Amino acid sequence: MTAQPTDFSQLLNLFEMESLARQTLAPMARDYYISGAHDELTLRDNRQAFERLKLRYRVMVDVSQRSTATTVLDHQLSSPIMVAPTAFHRMASENGELDTARAAQSLGTVMTLSTLSNTPVEAVVEAAGQAPVWFQLYVYKDRGATQALVERAEAAGAKAVGVTGDAPLLGRRERDVRNGFRLPAGLEISNMTASGMGALPQESGESGLAAYFASLLDPALTWKDLDWLASITKLPVLVKGIVRADDAARAVRHGASGIVVSNHGGRQLDTSVATIDALPEVADAVRADVTVLLDGGIRRGTDVLKALALGAHGVLVGRPVLWGLATGGQAGVEHALGILNQELDLAMALAGTPTITDITRDLIFRH
Ligand code: FNR
Ligand code: LAC
Repeated sequence: MTAQPTDFSQLLNLFEMESLARQTLAPMARDYYISGAHDELTLRDNRQAFERLKLRYRVMVDVSQRSTATTVLDHQLSSPIMVAPTAFHRMASENGELDTARAAQSLGTVMTLSTLSNTPVEAVVEAAGQAPVWFQLYVYKDRGATQALVERAEAAGAKAVGVTGDAPLLGRRERDVRNGFRLPAGLEISNMTASGMGALPQESGESGLAAYFASLLDPALTWKDLDWLASITKLPVLVKGIVRADDAARAVRHGASGIVVSNHGGRQLDTSVATIDALPEVADAVRADVTVLLDGGIRRGTDVLKALALGAHGVLVGRPVLWGLATGGQAGVEHALGILNQELDLAMALAGTPTITDITRDLIFRH
């Protein structure tokens, strides 16, 4: 956490924010946030796949009036850039998820809250005010506790439930194993305190989070559980962690209103396909029927443009939000998302695409 206010004018892009955040965070939190699974090949490839794509921009288009505004899952947003669910925001800033929620409100976008937050869903929805909060769900072996959690999120005012499908067990992040990852004293998984599952195991020599997953979350989750989830909530259900057209189509058949093309930021199955490479087949299969979102490696406005060109209705950002929290709480998250949105606006101007609907697949160069 920063001792002195950060001079954001010196942080010109998300990579500079990351490097300051790495210096300010405690090592256990820093390592947890930065890590990918095993050799971190997917973590790197999420970025490199964006870097490989080249843009075929249009010229001589009137771009004097531009807008990044769009509609996602019936929400009118100022930008297609939304907050991905990431666990444990109070390891990065005192007010944690409340800072993130307030920043989402001031930027006019969606915050997705993790099941594994350090702040209860009710307080986060209240802090978000007008901003829609989506609730990311981890399904516990204890279905009663899971149902209670979903009902609680809905009663609190969450606007969607996003079930994560790519984490039947936690991917192995070797730094966390080495550090014996645990939560700092005083922090817990606040949404699960009432069910007696709010604490992480404290054994050393392994990741406390991996131990928590192995003992409490349900590795037997299948598509029929999506029917069950859709039956216990009125909220739209999204499935997060999909990288294949057939899985996307299955999700839709089982009641999903949206798909998040994601490999969990390279933290689960290493050597998985980069998300921007997986997007076209998923978009082709289901984009006409449901909302398609993408996350993983979004760090520049041109990444957002590429994702929208290849069929996403919107994108989510994970780690950059954490870098924002670490460098300046709410103001830091506003700076991080603000940079990305300004970069998107400039990219749209230079690509000859003044509105979101102008962004089409022909903008991507193919060999
Ligand atoms: C995550 N992610 C994640 N996903 C999820 O469904 N539930 C969760 O609790 C978490 N927690 C979490 C913690 C941390 C520290 C990270 C970095 C990621 C994955 C997240 O939603 C998203 O898929 C990725 O972060 C996207 O990649 P980028 O933007 O971080 O590159
Ligand atoms: C992670 C889990 C919590 O990636 O989703 O750390």
